[in-house]
Amino acid sequence: MYTHLQLRDSARPPVTLATLDAMKQRGEKIACLTCYDASFAILVDEADTDVVLVGDSLGMVIQGHDTTVPVTMDHIVYHCRAVARGLHRPFLIADMPFMSYPSKEQALTNSVRLMQEGGAKMVKLESGPGQVEIVEFLANHDIAVCAHLGLKPQSVHKTGGFRVQGRDPDAAERMLRNARELEAAGADMVLLECVPAQLGQAITAELEVPVIGIGAGPHTDGQILVLYDVLDITQGRKPRFVRNFMEGASSNLDALKRYVRAVKSGEYPAPEHCF
Ligand code: KIV
Repeated sequence: MYTHLQLRDSARPPVTLATLDAMKQRGEKIACLTCYDASFAILVDEADTDVVLVGDSLGMVIQGHDTTVPVTMDHIVYHCRAVARGLHRPFLIADMPFMSYPSKEQALTNSVRLMQEGGAKMVKLESGPGQVEIVEFLANHDIAVCAHLGLKPQSVHKTGGFRVQGRDPDAAERMLRNARELEAAGADMVLLECVPAQLGQAITAELEVPVIGIGAGPHTDGQILVLYDVLDITQGRKPRFVRNFMEGASSNLDALKRYVRAVKSGEYPAPEHCF
């Protein structure tokens, strides 16, 4: 009974939403990584990563697709379960894949699957004004939600490409307003992908919940990168925000520790990683 509370006094207590909120309050950076299997999960945990996301980026880095669109609920559940087996300390988030949340009811059914079958503690969904009601519905069912704003890879066929979002003042203002609405609806975290550093800073300052960035500048409460980018496994042209942490590292674990240290110290992201 209440094992979780007992673990709080252990040397490496599990990260909870309360831990992340306290980190934001203290100004301590939150180090996050994606992960897709148990072996890497053990390393990511050992490196002291705070948050792990089983992202639908697995469609690209694991399955070899060009986009995240082909990823299904069964895929995320399978990988999430594997990652959960390897983790002890980090807070585990699972992505809601393309079209797994077209209605409140489907979003609830699929979130429950990610938590009960996958072992996730939070679900992430690509959000906009159309998802405010869904976030509210999930929050009202006591499901922890991360709202993903900025570049939304699941919309790539509609938007026509992977581009930086919120560059012009109107779009930036809309995103800021939307972030406020999602927080008011009950989102417990916001993830910003590919937005100008100034907008990342404005949204982070405005919200009480932790804001995690990927290509969103140095001012967000935390950073996330795709594990295979950090370890330089991904081939071909890299997004501007990617840094190869294998450079100078003696092993995969060493590279992951370097990433966590660089996020915590504010050394990453540097100006060359920002928009
Ligand atoms: O799917 C994913 O890996 C993500 C990251 C880009 C944050 O959503």
